[in-house]
Amino acid sequence: MTTLTVELGERSYPIYIDKSLLGQEELLKKHIQGNSALIVSNETVAPLYLEKTQAMLSGLKHESVILPDGEKYKNLEVLNQIYDGLLRNHFDRNTTVIALGGGVVGDMAGFAAASYQRGVHLVQIPTTLLSQVDSSVGGKTGVNHALGKNMIGAFYQPKAVIADTDTLDTLPDRELSAGIAEIIKYGLICKPDFFGWLEDNMSLMLARDKKTLSYAIQVSCQTKADVVAEDERESGKRALLNLGHTFGHAIENGMGYGEWLHGEAVGAGMCMAAIMSEQLGWMSSEETKKSINLIQQAKLPIQAPASMSVEKFIELMSVDKKVIDGVLRLVLMKGIGKSLITDDYTVEDLNQAIKLSTAA
Ligand code: NAD
Ligand code: GLY
Repeated sequence: MTTLTVELGERSYPIYIDKSLLGQEELLKKHIQGNSALIVSNETVAPLYLEKTQAMLSGLKHESVILPDGEKYKNLEVLNQIYDGLLRNHFDRNTTVIALGGGVVGDMAGFAAASYQRGVHLVQIPTTLLSQVDSSVGGKTGVNHALGKNMIGAFYQPKAVIADTDTLDTLPDRELSAGIAEIIKYGLICKPDFFGWLEDNMSLMLARDKKTLSYAIQVSCQTKADVVAEDERESGKRALLNLGHTFGHAIENGMGYGEWLHGEAVGAGMCMAAIMSEQLGWMSSEETKKSINLIQQAKLPIQAPASMSVEKFIELMSVDKKVIDGVLRLVLMKGIGKSLITDDYTVEDLNQAIKLSTAA
């Protein structure tokens, strides 16, 4: 088993990565402080993994809340189902919320844990590639608002992340690719060697070779853990982890939550960031091509949707957490592995990049 640590002083926590972790009772129990736990999952993941998770809680009081499946349910109304489950079962402040599922379940259960009685314990058991390499680590939790993605939430770190790579066996291919988008992101942001490794190993990743996937998960989690340890609340460097996300969030919202998967929107969004970086003279056309090729190799979309106008993009991008005092900062690149956060561009540059990135 690989164990990484997110170093946050007293709030430091482990990320366990291996096969067959579901079922290891002690691994979970040692991160449960009280005598009760609420498992939050969804209607797709629960039939696959709920029983195994419940078995890890023997002897403790435990209940489950099963949410409807999908990004379109990541909202305040559905979040209430978790509070209902906690209150109906008289769960107290020493309870642990266990998020069993992908990033949607993880973000919602995390926010419920952050806010129920002003904060109860949280353990993340991510079951998608995307959640194992990104969303379960780092403590961003929350829900969407009709006017903006992830606009309501809190920073709230879990006590542990348990990533059982066996759960990836049941993941649909489209979801696997969505997870690979966030893995490529780390290469583009700050790991040029890892980017090269991904170019060499993409076919093994898509074939779900366990050793290859496991290595990619480890590098991704370590990269994220390092960034989070340095800048937990995104006052600086952490914003780089949003490469492709400002464009991507606009696509997710503009197309209707759930239409494009988050990872797909990030894939196309990273292509848009590469194109804009090249436009600004910061990235060579060769590096832009290499970036787009790798994203395409991962079977991800590389163009923005034709049905979204430049005006729609700009309107949606203006509701972004990287807007400070009315100025939208973007994560762009000065080469593969050299990302930066910048407002050093004009509206015309942005318009042009969106036009160039849009499918004809
Ligand atoms: P998701 O949670 O919707 O899961 C994708 C699909 O796979 C769902 O239908 C789910 O039910 C299903 N599924 C989950 N595990 C499965 C398994 N093992 N076998 C079969 N099916 C399974 O999507 P996601 O890609 O995991 O996460 C995307 C969400 O994460 C977005 O809402 C995004 O905003 C958020 N996110 C958050 C952070 C963060 O730092 N908190 C980072 C990145 C993304
Ligand atoms: N997914 C971006 C972050 O966690 O900061």
